Formats: sequence, C-alpha cells, structure tokens
Amino acid sequence: MRIAIIGAGRIGGNTARLLAAAGHETMLAFSRDQAKLGELAAEIGGSAGSPADAVGFGEVVLLSVPWGAIPTALEQAGSLSGKIVVDTTNQFGSGPMPAAGQTAAQFNAARMPGARYTKSFNTLTSAFQAASAGRTGAERVVQWFCGDDVEAKKIVGQLIGDAGFAPVDVGGTADCAVMEAPRRLGAVYGEEYRLADAEAVVDAVRAGRAIPPTPKYDA
Ligand SMILES: NC(=O)c1ccc[n+]([C@@H]2O[C@H](COP(=O)([O-])OP(=O)(O)OC[C@H]3O[C@@H](n4cnc5c(N)ncnc54)[C@H](OP(=O)(O)O)[C@@H]3O)[C@@H](O)[C@H]2O)c1
Repeated sequence: MRIAIIGAGRIGGNTARLLAAAGHETMLAFSRDQAKLGELAAEIGGSAGSPADAVGFGEVVLLSVPWGAIPTALEQAGSLSGKIVVDTTNQFGSGPMPAAGQTAAQFNAARMPGARYTKSFNTLTSAFQAASAGRTGAERVVQWFCGDDVEAKKIVGQLIGDAGFAPVDVGGTADCAVMEAPRRLGAVYGEEYRLADAEAVVDAVRAGRAIPPTPKYDA
C-alpha cells in the first residue's frame, strides 16, 4: 500500500522502515530538516515531501508527531477526509488536551473530520518496537489498535502484522483508554503483551471489567 508518514522520528521513522521492508511504498513528511528526511527516505527506499504531498500520495496516513505539534501537522496536512489514519500519538506535553472522560483517540479523531481514524503503535517505546518487531510464534509482541471504522481497522490490522507485530483490536475510540497514556495499573499502555494474554484483556474491556494483572515474560 502507499503509506504517508507524517513525522518520521523515532516511532514514525521506525514504522516507516518496517513497512517499507515489508514491501509498502512510503512517503515521509513533516520535518524541520527536509534534507534529513530525504536521507531517511532514500535509506528505506521511500520518498519525502510535504505533509500535503504525503496525504495526496497515501492510502494510509500514519501520524507520529509530538502531541504539541499535532495542530501544525494537521494544518499542513490539509483534509484527511476518506484517508485511513493511524495515530501513534500520546497526550504528553503542550497543546489542547482531551476533556475529562474523553479518550485521546476520540479527541484526535474529532480533529480529523472525515478521516477513517485508528490508533496504534503508541503503547511501547520506540526502542522496544524496533528491537521486538518480527518476533515469531508465542513471543510475537502485541500491537494494540482501536477505531470506529471496521473496514479501516482490517487494513490497519494487516499493516501491523506486516510491521512484525500481532494486531489486537481493543474496540472503538470510546473503549480504548486502556491503551492510552499514562502507564498505570489496570492499563496495557507501556507493557509488553503477547497474544496468549491479549484475549482476556479484550474480553474485560468489552465487559467493562478491570483487565487481568499485567503479564511477566522471561525473554
Ligand atoms: N518515542 C517513543 O518511545 C514513543 C512511543 C509510543 C508513542 N510515541 C508517540 O508518538 C509520537 C511521536 O513520538 P516520537 O518519539 O517518534 O517523536 P520524535 O522522535 O520527536 O519525532 C517527531 C517527528 O516530528 C517531526 N517534527 C516536525 N515538526 C516538528 C515540531 N515543530 N516539533 C517537533 N517535531 C516535529 C520531527 O522531525 P524533525 O526532528 O526532523 O523536525 C520528527 O520526525 C508522540 O506523540 C509520542 O508520544 C512515542
């Protein structure tokens, strides 16, 4: 697929690299140093452009910028209507914040009218994602995702798999608080999960129950 990466830093750059290695076409955008962006694009076999160029190019748009830079990135991106968006952001730092009781996913989806909004790649550090991508069998690492567009989520689930992770659908944007910052008891944010432990989390979220204790892995 053609994938636009808006913010090709630690998370966006790494995800672009993984998706490019899996055969997807990437266009990187949104940098204070366009030459550096071009170098990374050349290295992974993609291209670089402006955020608006990238949105025009991409069937899927990965948004991976610091929380405080989201308004600028969205302004430069232009309309995302009809695009599948994968939001990797977490609500740290400056900028407008979700209201009490509102998930960051709901808040951001509302900032992208018409977008086929999903959220993923946000719960694990960039270093861990880079190191653990591509694990196989029982050790494959879960990448949680959420969204309200079922067809968009099917595609995003495939992309998560292509990037080397096990996709697990938490539910809609209203249900995804467990995969959002900050790291805390009772949430999957910041924790490694493998598939064997993921189903019980999803069951608990669907039932409105507390999730089981965080699993511990040896390797
Ligand atoms: N780092 C993690 O471990 C991690 C894990 C999960 C989720 N996240 C979330 O993912 C999002 C991206 O995090 P990241 O760690 O990948 O960030 P990062 O490494 O700082 O990358 C941010 C990207 O945005 C670009 N950018 C363009 N204009 C910017 C501006 N005005 N201010 C700041 N950056 C600008 C930067 O490009 P230039 O520097 O070339 O300008 C850079 O490529 C954040 O919302 C973060 O909370 C991060």
